[in-house]
Amino acid sequence: NHLLLNDSIVPESDVAISYKDRGYHFGDGVYEVVRVYEGAFFTLDPHIDRLYESANQIDMSLPFSKEHLKANLEAYKTKEQLENGSIYLQITRGEAERNHLYTREEEPVLLGFVLPDRPPTDASTVGIAAYVTADVRWLRCDIKSINLLGNVMAKRKATDHDCGEAILYRETAVTEGSTSNLFLVNNGTLYTHPADNYILNGITRREVIALAHELGIDVVEEPFPKEVLAHAEEAFITSTSIEITPVHSFKGDVEATLKVGPLTKKLQQAFTERVQ
Ligand code: PDD
Repeated sequence: NHLLLNDSIVPESDVAISYKDRGYHFGDGVYEVVRVYEGAFFTLDPHIDRLYESANQIDMSLPFSKEHLKANLEAYKTKEQLENGSIYLQITRGEAERNHLYTREEEPVLLGFVLPDRPPTDASTVGIAAYVTADVRWLRCDIKSINLLGNVMAKRKATDHDCGEAILYRETAVTEGSTSNLFLVNNGTLYTHPADNYILNGITRREVIALAHELGIDVVEEPFPKEVLAHAEEAFITSTSIEITPVHSFKGDVEATLKVGPLTKKLQQAFTERVQ
């Protein structure tokens, strides 16, 4: 078992990260999760672009060019003989005396490791229950920050209510899931929150929108109130890890039962063809 640490591939036992890393004190860092299918990265470029954009948004400059980082990721994937799984990649601002103020003199620390695929479940066919609850996160959810307290609290709450995901809403607008984006289907049209500061613009979300366009399905990227969830014909969540997973029911602040419908299945099939 090796990890990617800055510019090197090192055995797990050789990884030493300072307790003074700002990632520990302030959650001062950004991350990505990139999937590998059949030995090849899926949508690597948009993930790398988003990582650099997240870093840029928090005023952190990365020590490597995108090309250099991509070459390191390829080398690491080869070293780990990764056929199917994901690579988690985070960059924290690095070591410093504890002080909210950063100096721009810090040396960012890059850490990458393999996330094995979770055991397959029937979620992709039967769907999951989703717990609808208030979005208590900050106002820069477009940054893929490692500071995920609002997300982990929502995920725990959903699980405590026997749901596989939390669906979040702010005031009246449904934003996204705790670790995924949400789509609804009504009258053959897809609805999802626009890519602004209230959500993470998921790479899977972008793929689904592109696939929908290819299939001639209309996509409306507009905020909608949580009450709309109660009469959605179909709903599904998307992410690198769960791909396209149907929602069979909403619980919590909205209650509804849905079917795993034809449009969800069509997009799942198109997505599967894309990753092969
Ligand atoms: N999370 N929204 C949030 C809040 C997320 O955490 C994620 C992904 C997404 C979907 O993004 P993408 O399609 O690019 O994976 C949306 C990752 C997988 C995670 O934290 O493990």
